[in-house]
Amino acid sequence: MKNQKVIDVYQGLVVKFKELIREHEIDHDDYQELVNWMDRLGRAGEIPLFMDVFFETHALQEMYKNVKGTEPTILGPYFIENTPIVENPGELPQREDEPGDVLNFSGSVKDTDGNPLANTKIDMWQADANGEYSYFAEGIPDNNLRGVFYTDENGNFEIKTVVPGNYSIPSDGPSGQFLKWIDHHAFRPAHLHLLFQPENGDKLVTQIYFEGDQYLDNDVAQGVRGSLVTKLDKKSGAEKGLETDYYTAHLDFELRLQDKPVFSKEVYSV
Ligand code: BEZ
Ligand code: FE
Repeated sequence: MKNQKVIDVYQGLVVKFKELIREHEIDHDDYQELVNWMDRLGRAGEIPLFMDVFFETHALQEMYKNVKGTEPTILGPYFIENTPIVENPGELPQREDEPGDVLNFSGSVKDTDGNPLANTKIDMWQADANGEYSYFAEGIPDNNLRGVFYTDENGNFEIKTVVPGNYSIPSDGPSGQFLKWIDHHAFRPAHLHLLFQPENGDKLVTQIYFEGDQYLDNDVAQGVRGSLVTKLDKKSGAEKGLETDYYTAHLDFELRLQDKPVFSKEVYSV
């Protein structure tokens, strides 16, 4: 299928690249190095990673610059479809000895006029306390810390999980090498991923971040939006007869209901 906007961007890239070659007085050795790095990026399967780190956030900002409701942010390369359905209130699938602090994450889902959105499908996925995702790190069971649930009749949900760790994008391949060249670390702030699919409206792909995280202001993927930062509240476990303390976090979400969804289904197919 021909997408003229995509063709125009690639054509623009060719024009800009030629300008850069002139501007930096690139010689043939430099040129060969440029080609070699790009070749390594492709061979390592890191093109989606590199694009999601450097460009996805900008595409979303462009797409949503004039719309109401909760802000979207990057889907990233670690979304998996059809993960297990869990109860609401309920718990994300996790190991018996899942490392990290318990987190009860709750939210409300409304439309942009404030009406609760019952039965909204929510995909949730996250890194574990060591910053690693199931399916993308060895030794973690499939679907660990991934699940799908539906909002209740009042549009609310509450899910027990663990506080995610700071996440580093793979740093031993060509993307990591590029970050070293530009003197930038490879970390993202700790986050939860959420994909909302209301019965009657627009999908929203977004993430939740936590106050005080050292990478909020220098996220390698520039995905942080102030409105998506919430508080990790420490609670006494003893008061509830639990052996350890735990955390709660909450955020209210507003979804757009409209005839023409901003997102098309293809965006999410992997
Ligand atoms: C993430 O949110 O998990 C992510 C985003 C961009 C690149 C890599 C990971
Ligand atoms: Fe992530």
